[in-house]
Formats: sequence, C-alpha cells, structure tokens
Amino acid sequence: MMDSIIKTLRQAIGDEAILEAADIAERATSYWDSAPMRGKALALPRNTDEVATVLQTCHAAGQSVVTQGGLTNAVTAAKPNDDDVILSLEKMNRVIEIDAIGSLAVVEAGAVLQNVQDVVDEAGLRFPLDLGARGSCTIGGNIATNAGGINVLRYGMIRDLVLGLEAVLADGTVLSSMNRMLKNNAGYDLKQLFIGTEGTLGVVTRAVVRLFPRPSTRHTAFVALDDFEHVQALLVLLREQLADSLSAFEILWQDYYRFVTTVGGHRAPLSPEHPFYVVFESEGNDAALDEQRFTHVLTTAFDNGLIDDAVIPKSDNERNAIWEIRENFESILECDPVYLYDVSLPVGEMATYVDTIKGNIKARWPNGECYTMGHVADGNLHPFVCPNEPVDGKAISDALVYEPLRAIGGSVSAEHGIGMDKKDWLDQSRSDAEVALMRTLKSTLDPQGILNPGQVL
Ligand code: LAC
Ligand code: ZN
Repeated sequence: MMDSIIKTLRQAIGDEAILEAADIAERATSYWDSAPMRGKALALPRNTDEVATVLQTCHAAGQSVVTQGGLTNAVTAAKPNDDDVILSLEKMNRVIEIDAIGSLAVVEAGAVLQNVQDVVDEAGLRFPLDLGARGSCTIGGNIATNAGGINVLRYGMIRDLVLGLEAVLADGTVLSSMNRMLKNNAGYDLKQLFIGTEGTLGVVTRAVVRLFPRPSTRHTAFVALDDFEHVQALLVLLREQLADSLSAFEILWQDYYRFVTTVGGHRAPLSPEHPFYVVFESEGNDAALDEQRFTHVLTTAFDNGLIDDAVIPKSDNERNAIWEIRENFESILECDPVYLYDVSLPVGEMATYVDTIKGNIKARWPNGECYTMGHVADGNLHPFVCPNEPVDGKAISDALVYEPLRAIGGSVSAEHGIGMDKKDWLDQSRSDAEVALMRTLKSTLDPQGILNPGQVL
C-alpha cells in the first residue's frame, strides 16, 4: 500500500514532483558513496510555495525530511534512510537577477555554483565563492554549510557573501529576509540562523549574494619550499606586497604531491623532492602594474631564499593543470578505506600538527599514510588518512587526528560542517553552553525534529 504521505504530497504538488523508492534508487547516495539512494519519497518542488507545502505536510505528519543540494558534502550530511522524505532543490536552479549597481545577484537555492559563477561572469562581474565541487554543489548547500573553498583569504566564506535569504521553517512558514543592503541592523540578523546550520533549522530557498568587479588579470605560481617557516614567510611577504589582490594560497605536503603526480597520473611540473608545494594566485585590473608586482614578489621570494623552485603557467591549460594537482584527489579516494578530514588550527602549529598525526597513524598502522593539503591562509588543512590495511578504522583515525587539536585550540571542522560524521566530536570544539544554545534553537525552530534528523547535534 502506498504510504499516505506520498499520496498527500502528490495531491499537494503534483504526481510528477514526487518520486518513489524505486526511482530514488536510480540515484547515487552522494559524490562519495555510489550506493543506491534510499528514501520513502523524493520531492522536487519548483518554487518556494511548493517547498512550504511539502514541509507543512511533513510537519503535520511528523515526517522526517532530508534536504539535498549537490550531494558533495564530505560529512554524511544529506544521507536519507528508507523512512525519510527527501527534499531536493534541483528544480529551483535559476539565477533570477543580477544587479550591477547593487553589486548583487538573486539566486535560487538549487543553482549550481559553477553556473552562478558563469552567468555572473558573462555580466562582467564576479561571484567569488569557489571550490573543487563547483560543478555539482549548489548555492543552497553552500549556504547551509557555510562553504569556504579557495578564495576565502580574499573574500571570506559564504557567510560574508550572503546579504539576504529566504528560508522555509519546519512547519512551512516562509521567512523572507531578502535584504539587499550591506548595512541593516534592524534587530536580529535572522539569516545567520540558516547559514552553516546544515539544514537543521530551515530550508534555504533563495538568496541575495554579493558580487565583485571581475578581475581582468590573473597571475599564478606553483612553488616548492624546503621548510614550513618559509611557507609562513612567503604568505606574509605576499600579503605585504600583493595585499588584497592575493586571492589563493594553497599548500600540498610532499606526500600528497607525490601521490597525485604518480598514482593520480597528473604531470609533475616540479621535482618531487621538496617538503612543501604552494600554489598562489593574484588578481587585479591593471595589466602592467599587476605583472610588475607579481614578478617583483616572486623575485624577492627567490632572493630571500623562501622558494627553491617555481613554475609559472603560460596558458590557461597549464594553469588548470596545476589546479588539477591540488583539486583532483580522486586517486587518493581509491584507497580503501580512506578518511578525509577538515580541521582548522593556528597556521604556526601546522607543521608540527601534521608530523604528530602522521606519527600517530604510522604507530597504529605501519603502512598507513596521511596525505595532506589545504588552505594555509585560513588555518584549514585536509589530511587524507589511508590505513592501507583492511580495517574499519574510522573511529580510531578520528581520535588520532582530532585529539591533538585540543591542546592547540583547533577545530574539528573548518568548512565541511558536522553532518553525521563528526557529531561525537562537536563538544571538543564547542563549549557546553554553546551546544546547549544550539539545542535550544533546534527545539524552538523544529520542535518535532523533522529537519535532517540525527545531524549536527
Ligand atoms: C577541498 C575540499 C576537500 O578543499 O574541501 O578540496
Ligand atoms: Zn577545502
């Protein structure tokens, strides 16, 4: 017999907008998990009113709802089970408006990040959020997880880019907070309730996001460094000399570089002997001056002995090939098992921290590896732990990676969120009072606990 919730949802928003279990199973669970997706029903609303109808219906029935964007999150944050209704925003994928004078765009939550970037670019502007999952992840998911990525050092996380948003609460109430101004201190800034709360307090349906001038110059360098002190000194030098035009500064530890340029098949533009590799970029709008400043800072870095080798891409293809080394880590995901981490910590602690966790991993699994890369300027690293043994070792690995963060004031999540994967570790990075207030907010806004149950808290 058809579950009555499916019948009710079909009556409410149309047969074609509600899929059942067999159709749902044709989808993969996520980017990270190719198992068939599970779920009681999958709703494909076309507008905010339909999202509200779905939530109102589910709220009345005490029915759990798992909201999905592009399914690229790395913390099991959108994985439904057989009893859940899935709410996918994929049909709500339009860029509704670009306002050049207001420097903003109005977008629907299901819009794919890369599409937003492209449409804004065609209008002669820039939406500066950028991350490896750009081709699949959605603005709604980016907001729900407070996405970071590779340009945070210049533009901030998406929290800094959202001027306003519209969200639907668990009971179907539409909260329209589509502010378009940079300044608006009229009472509480309620949009923050939905940014980085992983869909547990409401479903984001639309947003007003900030745009910036589109840079006309871009300079990229891929450099090798012999010690972490030099990595820090290079970052300081670039900040001093390039100031705001420095838009990316990404680090690869030697073992990461070696793996992706051997097993991973990426061509190695620099010899693999160096302990650290950094890709950095600057962007601007003055061709002659930008070129001169970039060349000057590179020369200074060489003269000061900060960098040992460098390649400067001479074409977009060469530039993309360098970014592929950083962003395309598919080969590491072939390790079975492999655990991807997302930690933050003071930059000055990074080298020691990575040595410590590598030591921990080797002590536990003698053939184990810990391939690390990350966003140095944001204090954010991504170690990939491969035990290289057929073990169910996630809990052990978590402890090896997270425990050492305690003493140095790090966080168990820099940009990926908590999802289901890191719940046990939330209280290492947040105080009892903070977690208690999170629970109060959750029970106030979603008293029946229907939104993304079992996540974050
Ligand atoms: C990245 C993802 C793993 O930085 O956050 O590539
Ligand atoms: Zn990242």
